[in-house]
Amino acid sequence: MDINLKDRKVLITGAAEGIGRALALAFGKAGAQVAGCARTEARLQALQEEMDGQGHLFQTVDVIYPGQLEDFHDRVLEQLGGLDVLVNNVGSIGKLATFHELTDQDWRESFEVNLLPAVRLCRMFIPTLKHSAAPRIINISSISGSRPGEVFPHYSAMKAGLSNLTVSLAQTLAPDHILVNSVSPGPVWTRSWENQAQEAVERTGQPLHEVEENIKNQTAETVPLKRMGMPEDVTGLVLFLASDHASWITATNFTVDGGVTHDPF
Ligand SMILES: NC(=O)c1ccc[n+]([C@@H]2O[C@H](COP(=O)([O-])OP(=O)(O)OC[C@H]3O[C@@H](n4cnc5c(N)ncnc54)[C@H](OP(=O)(O)O)[C@@H]3O)[C@@H](O)[C@H]2O)c1
Repeated sequence: MDINLKDRKVLITGAAEGIGRALALAFGKAGAQVAGCARTEARLQALQEEMDGQGHLFQTVDVIYPGQLEDFHDRVLEQLGGLDVLVNNVGSIGKLATFHELTDQDWRESFEVNLLPAVRLCRMFIPTLKHSAAPRIINISSISGSRPGEVFPHYSAMKAGLSNLTVSLAQTLAPDHILVNSVSPGPVWTRSWENQAQEAVERTGQPLHEVEENIKNQTAETVPLKRMGMPEDVTGLVLFLASDHASWITATNFTVDGGVTHDPF
């Protein structure tokens, strides 16, 4: 199957690292014109240098500030001249803690990074998406949205909200032929896991490579395919959903998790 996204205009939030970065590179390779944002200029610049194709836009934006999102919206329209695919990828666990350790502020911050930017960007870009021949909204959720554990209940609740919003919005936008789906990764080795390893090093004094190996091995044991995912494991499905092959798929949450959820329904 040829996934040709030549000249599609794609926006990815949280594009500097991890899954967002892998998505930017994959969309670029498939011929798309990419607009990406994150807070760290140097990482965005490094990404820009690795991108295939021309005309991409990478801008420093902190998605919790509506003014910065508005500026980014205007720059995207100016430089890309439209939008076909909005990928709401940005997200963060924040505090790795259980319910009793979380404050109102932790919950508020989780809402502001995991759910509200997607709401705001959808609101801003829907009028533009209506002009696209193949408009898509793809929300990067998490398996923890449907399978919450004891840790990070704030993050899991926000991801449940994002998957839920996906289905609601898909119905609202069906008359405009804007397809809205979410993709829920399982454990994918990215910076949030590296940070976890770093915290364990500081706590235990163990060497970093040992701690990382332990986390990877222990997590792999919970995955039927016996390995953690890599950011590139998520890109194929997202590109497929953006493509013309997915033109009758909407209001659906897809898992990419090496079999962790193994839920038939
Ligand atoms: N990794 C996993 O195991 C996993 C599992 C399930 C779901 N997910 C979801 O997948 C998505 C990507 O996760 P990831 O693990 O790839 O994340 P990551 O490696 O931590 O990267 C997050 C990206 O978002 C940017 N970012 C963070 N806060 C931001 C803010 N306030 N404004 C703008 N950009 C911001 C970061 O760059 P800066 O720091 O430079 O801003 C970075 O580019 C998230 O929604 C996450 O919840 C991940």
